[in-house]
Amino acid sequence: MRAKIIGTGSCLPTKVATNDDLSALMDTSDEWIQSRTGIRERRLVSSESETTLSMAAQAGKAALTDSGLQPEEIDLIIVATVSSDFVTPSTACMVQKELGAVCAAAFDINAACSGFLFALNTADAYFQSGIYQTALIIGVETLSKIIDWTDRSTCVLFGDGAGAAVLRASEQGIIASLQGSNGAGGHVLMCKNRGNNNPYISTDACLDYLYMDGQEVFKFAVKKETECIHALLAQAGLMPEDIDWYLLHQANQRIIASIARKLKLSLAKFPSNVDHCGNTSAASIPILLDEVHKAGKLKDGDLLLLSGFGAGLTWGAALLLW
Ligand code: UT7
Repeated sequence: MRAKIIGTGSCLPTKVATNDDLSALMDTSDEWIQSRTGIRERRLVSSESETTLSMAAQAGKAALTDSGLQPEEIDLIIVATVSSDFVTPSTACMVQKELGAVCAAAFDINAACSGFLFALNTADAYFQSGIYQTALIIGVETLSKIIDWTDRSTCVLFGDGAGAAVLRASEQGIIASLQGSNGAGGHVLMCKNRGNNNPYISTDACLDYLYMDGQEVFKFAVKKETECIHALLAQAGLMPEDIDWYLLHQANQRIIASIARKLKLSLAKFPSNVDHCGNTSAASIPILLDEVHKAGKLKDGDLLLLSGFGAGLTWGAALLLW
């Protein structure tokens, strides 16, 4: 049995921050941001009640409603995030409590922007082994709290949000999947954890914020994502044009366009929301999936290829039947 997506949901914070809004805070411009990234605006949490947990729970609830399953029918909850509100308990355990999914085992995973695909592939592995039959997977980030708002080359790129999918073990669903990591390349995109409170180790308690070597990440993204897509198509014996929809990590419209060009495909097969969401890291693919699903674009039997890359470095992809 493989994982089939039977419901989706998403949640975006209410505050819209346009490029012009950011230009009032720092030396940047709408022209620079749009021409380099395709981003017009992003959503950012702006009150104490908007948190990683609140968005994850809302997206999860919407996905459950869409699936028709009851919370207590969920066997497994996986939350992919690098910006949880608490070190412990996990966001997944807190979502379990919020939703009343009392029968689920729940844990978080950290694979940065590839996190939703790692969650999907992990749930699929549980389904293939027969351990679980249903899962709720969520990608959620409030990267705004770990971004360096004095670094204009990174802070304009990111947005906050959550996306979720309910999965059921099924005869048809995921057809092929892959994931991988290269820890040796991790220094190009990183964020140090909180200060060390160990009495024997004296360290500076100040927090570090997200650091990114944009050009290195750009090159890695285009090369690795294109390789992943070719590898996945080869696994399934398909050609690029056989896929109905490519749902790629929404980091930068230029990355998406480069990949479409390398595959010799029209951009029409690559829906995008980076213009109004920015890069929401682990949430980007499930938010996009929810948008295209709720817009009625996906038909039964469509072939979807989901692919992402991120800090770690990590990458993941899945080919599935809708
Ligand atoms: O999920 C995480 C994945 N991350 C990514 O996918 C990021 C991938 N990388 C990128 O998308 C691009 O590298 C960026 C959008 C981050 C940067 O674009 P770039 O074309 O690589 O620009 P750059 O870093 O080479 O900077 C060009 C110029 C510099 O000025 P000088 O040195 O040429 O005078 C920067 O200081 O643009 C300047 N610049 C800005 N100017 C206005 C950098 N950020 C900004 C800004 N506004 N926000």
